[in-house]
Amino acid sequence: MPNKDKKNATSAEREAPAGRNAPGVTEGMRAFVSDTYMLLAKTQSCHWNMRGPDFIGLHKLTEEQYNELFVAVDELAERIRALDELAPNSVREMMELSRLEELSAAPSTAEVIDILAADNQAMAGRAKELAEEADEAGDPATHDMLAARVEAHQKAAWLLRAHHPHGNGRSTTAMAGR
Ligand SMILES: [Fe+2]
Repeated sequence: MPNKDKKNATSAEREAPAGRNAPGVTEGMRAFVSDTYMLLAKTQSCHWNMRGPDFIGLHKLTEEQYNELFVAVDELAERIRALDELAPNSVREMMELSRLEELSAAPSTAEVIDILAADNQAMAGRAKELAEEADEAGDPATHDMLAARVEAHQKAAWLLRAHHPHGNGRSTTAMAGR
């Protein structure tokens, strides 16, 4: 199989500036915005439909969290526009791009903690990976925005776990999948 060397690169590829608007970063941001929107919807539906012990505490916490996500998703999507790419255009597109699983049934309060804490932990990991990509692409503004999301998602996961009646607030291996 012949090697594709630099001689065969198109002129656009040769002249593509390193740094701003790196395609991998904007594509990653589009998926991250979609994940954020899905987590917002999932957090809000838990706020409405969950049942069980400490309902009021978790009802208030999930409200704080979906409000925080609502502000964050706007900033993330506008960063994509500032990089001269389009943010996801529809809920359908975001569902296709998102890597989070939808809720299939109304959860108990204990399930809410496990599901949303695992989702937030996964989001923190994705934000960290994408922040590193942005840094390598010479895009410190996107890096810093994503670094702030690492902190926000790790804090959200901790606050959820701290509500667990039998937990100690530390991370568990319990994963979502619901
Ligand atoms: Fe509410």
